[in-house]
Amino acid sequence: MINKSLLEKRFSKNSATYNDYANVQRIMAASLLSFTQPEPADPPTSILEIGSGTGLLTKQLADKYPDALIDAIDLAPGMIDSAKHYVQNKNVTFTCCDYEEVKLTRNYDLIVSNATFQWFNHLSDTIAKTCNHLNRGGQVLFSTFGPSTFYELNQSMQAAKLKISYEKRVEVSQRFLSLEDLLTICQGNSDETRCNVNGYEELHVEMFSEVRDFLKSINKIGASNSNTEHQSQSVSLFREMCTIYKERFLTEQGNIPATYHTLYIHILKE
Ligand SMILES: C[S@@+](CC[C@H](N)C(=O)[O-])C[C@H]1O[C@@H](n2cnc3c(N)ncnc32)[C@H](O)[C@@H]1O
Repeated sequence: MINKSLLEKRFSKNSATYNDYANVQRIMAASLLSFTQPEPADPPTSILEIGSGTGLLTKQLADKYPDALIDAIDLAPGMIDSAKHYVQNKNVTFTCCDYEEVKLTRNYDLIVSNATFQWFNHLSDTIAKTCNHLNRGGQVLFSTFGPSTFYELNQSMQAAKLKISYEKRVEVSQRFLSLEDLLTICQGNSDETRCNVNGYEELHVEMFSEVRDFLKSINKIGASNSNTEHQSQSVSLFREMCTIYKERFLTEQGNIPATYHTLYIHILKE
């Protein structure tokens, strides 16, 4: 389970540094935006963005669809403050709330969410709610992370645990669903809501000078593990993990690779 108050605090605390480190999230936002047609004959007039963060995608949506009314929701007050500062477009309304808990009062032509659905505790219900609030002909576009995300880190941590016989449970990141599982969940909600579901996946490898730089980048976007069952790890385990990471994965150019497995889902309501 995600600890929402911890998640809220981490994202709020790191809202000032988020944009400097969110390289993969930026790529994901660009991909999502490219799925909305360049010059749609029938542009959306109502848009909901879930997990708007610092407003990177919100601003692009607001510029692309100046006649649409955009509701942007985020859990973290710090993120909402940054986004309000960055996105001055008059057609955007920001609301600070937990999307999983909020009762939506209207339907939308377009519902978008970048790099946020991995933080939900009730994914199936939340996807059903999202589909239920789509207008006919409307679409949901969201991106999230797949199970190969941080695989170097996960492998190094497992190997370090074995090496020093560390028996406590350690989760370096939250669990990510596969594209197949995510499609099954979305399709499970599509009969009632008459939605067509499609998805695709990509791998991105980001390079760092040191393992610590990679871990710092996760902290600086507020995305470190916020599971309730997360255990803090020992210093010797952490050191061992860093050593194994370097031994196993250092590239010929002397860089530390970190894999991001990105998933994209497109839901179209008939
Ligand atoms: C990785 S950031 C992505 C931000 C933005 N979409 C972007 O592309 O840069 C995830 C965002 O989702 C927000 N978030 C997480 N869980 C949420 C929830 N249950 N309801 C609303 N926002 C949530 C976080 O506060 C954070 O701002």
